[in-house]
Amino acid sequence: MPNLAVESLTLSHFRSHHVVQIECDARPIAIYGANGVGKTNILEAVSLLSPGRGVRRASAEEMTRRPEALGWKVKAILRSQGRLHEVETWSENGAARQVRIDSKAATQVMLGRIARVLWLIPAMDRLWIEGADGRRRFLDRMTLSFHPSHADNVLIYEKNMRERNRLLKDRVKDAHWYRAIESQMAEAGVKIRAAREEALAHIHASQEQAETAFPTANLTLTNAESIDIPNNSDELAVLFADYRNRDIDAGRTLIGPHRDDLYGVFAAKNVPAKDSS
Ligand SMILES: Nc1ncnc2c1ncn2[C@@H]1O[C@H](COP(=O)(O)OP(=O)(O)O)[C@@H](O)[C@H]1O
Ligand SMILES: [Mg+2]
Repeated sequence: MPNLAVESLTLSHFRSHHVVQIECDARPIAIYGANGVGKTNILEAVSLLSPGRGVRRASAEEMTRRPEALGWKVKAILRSQGRLHEVETWSENGAARQVRIDSKAATQVMLGRIARVLWLIPAMDRLWIEGADGRRRFLDRMTLSFHPSHADNVLIYEKNMRERNRLLKDRVKDAHWYRAIESQMAEAGVKIRAAREEALAHIHASQEQAETAFPTANLTLTNAESIDIPNNSDELAVLFADYRNRDIDAGRTLIGPHRDDLYGVFAAKNVPAKDSS
């Protein structure tokens, strides 16, 4: 019995769908139909049962059925770890999507505690070739499935970094404006990196146990600048302080976990993933 299954899915005014109700169970599902009938739209709705912007990375407003543009709703019965949950997510008037779990208001982060969802779709076939952002998002989604609180730390880090970037853009030099912000970034940043490293360790451990022909990958956390990011929050805060002048010139935070990248190597042949296909 899988740990996660959608047992019922209802879409209202979501993309091309007016009202659709699908009853299913834990068995695998194939959706087929002519081009443009709304298959991927259904998958997009399912992806919204986990935190974030879904498989298309679209805004809540884009998902509303046009031309009516009344807002949309996705409702699902999820079986997770042997328990049933009713998950509702919707958007009104183009506003950010809201979430309710078992009839109680919830956050997107709370969705991550119920539904551990990961996707690898054709649109991601350049994952290893293109920029670090996509790989970092993929890694964070994997990490989230081991550490639901990873999402909170990423939010805290990003909120503080936005504040720091505002100061940098205004060319604020006075250290006392930065200290509290950088210390919060450092604290969240260290947790973010530790969770990412732990996720990679989990993946390596399960690859070793797996009896499969699927190619094994060596995955490591790197960053474009090859700077050692300390795993101690005091030291990371010092690194942020040391970089302030360079960051002021750049108008943004140049180093930190937000620049992490995932480096993959096809283990059997020692070929980097970016050179494999
Ligand atoms: N916000 C929207 N409102 C109404 N229709 C939409 C919206 N977004 C996409 N569509 C329609 O959905 C269809 C594509 O659905 P999709 O799920 O990608 O098809 P497929 O079955 O080929 O995967 C297109 O006809 C497109 O016009
Ligand atoms: Mg499609």
